[in-house]
Amino acid sequence: MSRTFYVNGEFVAEADAKVSVLDRGFLFADAVYEVSSVLGGQLIDNDAHMNRLHRSLSEISMQAPATDAEVLAAQQKLIELNEIDEGLVYLQVTRGVADRDFGFPANATPTIVMFTQKKNLLNSPQAKTGIKVISVPDIRWQRRDIKTVGLLAPALAKQAAADAGVDDAWMVEDGFVTEGSSNNAYIVHHDGTIQTRHLGNEILSGITREAVLRLCGLTQNKYIEKPFTIEEAKNAKEAFITSASSFVMPVVSIDGQDIGDGEPGETSKKLRELYIEIAREKGTFSHVQE
Ligand code: PDD
Repeated sequence: MSRTFYVNGEFVAEADAKVSVLDRGFLFADAVYEVSSVLGGQLIDNDAHMNRLHRSLSEISMQAPATDAEVLAAQQKLIELNEIDEGLVYLQVTRGVADRDFGFPANATPTIVMFTQKKNLLNSPQAKTGIKVISVPDIRWQRRDIKTVGLLAPALAKQAAADAGVDDAWMVEDGFVTEGSSNNAYIVHHDGTIQTRHLGNEILSGITREAVLRLCGLTQNKYIEKPFTIEEAKNAKEAFITSASSFVMPVVSIDGQDIGDGEPGETSKKLRELYIEIAREKGTFSHVQE
């Protein structure tokens, strides 16, 4: 069965899901996006994703093309039409179509597209084995807190990882890990303390990061928000990443060196289980006390 896409208010088949070559998303990556996960047909933490979308839009002076209620209704309709039990809903907003000129067009109407992807999120084989990463220089622009579609640097990082026979890349700037190519990065110290980089313009404020830091209260892990080096990561007890598409995913090797015993760590596994349990039960983490 073919997938239904959403383009500017219409539900259309893939062959009709098209935007202009003059769309500023295409020409300038003048666009922002969100990826929400779906479990049991239910969107996970979608309000938080919508809040971040509004922040991204406002940081680049773009108007929301639809109300939150309209976006949610469209997301839910796509989930239903495309029979998504487990997977992702992708949403992108661009500044719209205008003749090529760097400055913002005066009267462009924003473009909004959405589509779904089926994905085995719960029983992902990688969650059982953990993933291997390499470190690469972080060559992205300086506003990584805005979720823009300017994703060439992460795409190159991911491809470098694939070429090296591993799963992903951790990006390094001024000697410290910023984040993974499309996820936030963490290490677990030998005393159980979890460390992840503090928020700022250097990284994306992950929705899964926010949830997982809340869960640390339940698992009684202390956490610190502070940059760490690749050397510290190699010597850590465990490491993991978080994102809407991977939840909590153990990292078992960095630049060819095993972390701990080279197996997914206990803390990573516990946080993953707890994340999935609460996501399935409540669909949100806003009630979890920090
Ligand atoms: N990526 N950091 C970066 C650079 C990301 O691209 C992402 C998400 C995250 C994690 O954010 P969240 O927990 O809100 O998913 C961190 C999405 C999944 C993607 O581009 O497919």
